[in-house]
Amino acid sequence: MSKEFRLGVLVSGRGTNLQAIIDWIEKETPNVKIALVISNKENAHALERCKRHGIQSIHMDPKSFENKIAFDKAMVSRLKESSIDLICLAGFMRILSAEFIHAFPKKIINVHPSLLPAFPGLDAQKQALEYGVKLAGCTVHFVDEGVDTGPIICQTSVPVFDDDTEETLSDRILAEEHKLYPKAIQSIMNNQIIICGRKTTS
Ligand code: GAR
Repeated sequence: MSKEFRLGVLVSGRGTNLQAIIDWIEKETPNVKIALVISNKENAHALERCKRHGIQSIHMDPKSFENKIAFDKAMVSRLKESSIDLICLAGFMRILSAEFIHAFPKKIINVHPSLLPAFPGLDAQKQALEYGVKLAGCTVHFVDEGVDTGPIICQTSVPVFDDDTEETLSDRILAEEHKLYPKAIQSIMNNQIIICGRKTTS
């Protein structure tokens, strides 16, 4: 039997991407385990999902730490204790410090609801609508010290329709995120992704 591949997932909210990863593991990939979920928000629905699926999860409150670096270092310790192979940001709405990123080189990935490098940061779907693009989408990328700037692993595009609202466009993109994120994790697990400067090849 192949070695267990251990995921750490960082969340802040409802956790539908976390759920997509849970469903993928339960249906198709028993050698992957979500070893720890950390939420910076106490009432994140993602934590309920963990309870339902018997996944170890904790709330860590940034306000109970002296500063951002102390909080990030505490997250690093918890993740190291859980022997994590890959950290997945799934709607984690905080920028990670250099201290965190350097603790897990090439081992942190994020899903973002735009075709990066377009529309990084907050409200990507709103930014896309306001700009007037005809194609939107989602990106899974490695996390570096910038905001949504790390090497791109994979992307999926969706059309933007004239009558789209932020909600309808977000829903169309989200459905693709749920398919794309497990695929990205699978290809990293299979050692199919090589990082070369700011590019990846597979
Ligand atoms: C997702 O659309 C994800 O791409 C986005 O937050 C949402 C989280 O939803 N992330 C970012 O915008 C990060 N820059 P979820 O909690 O249901 O997975």
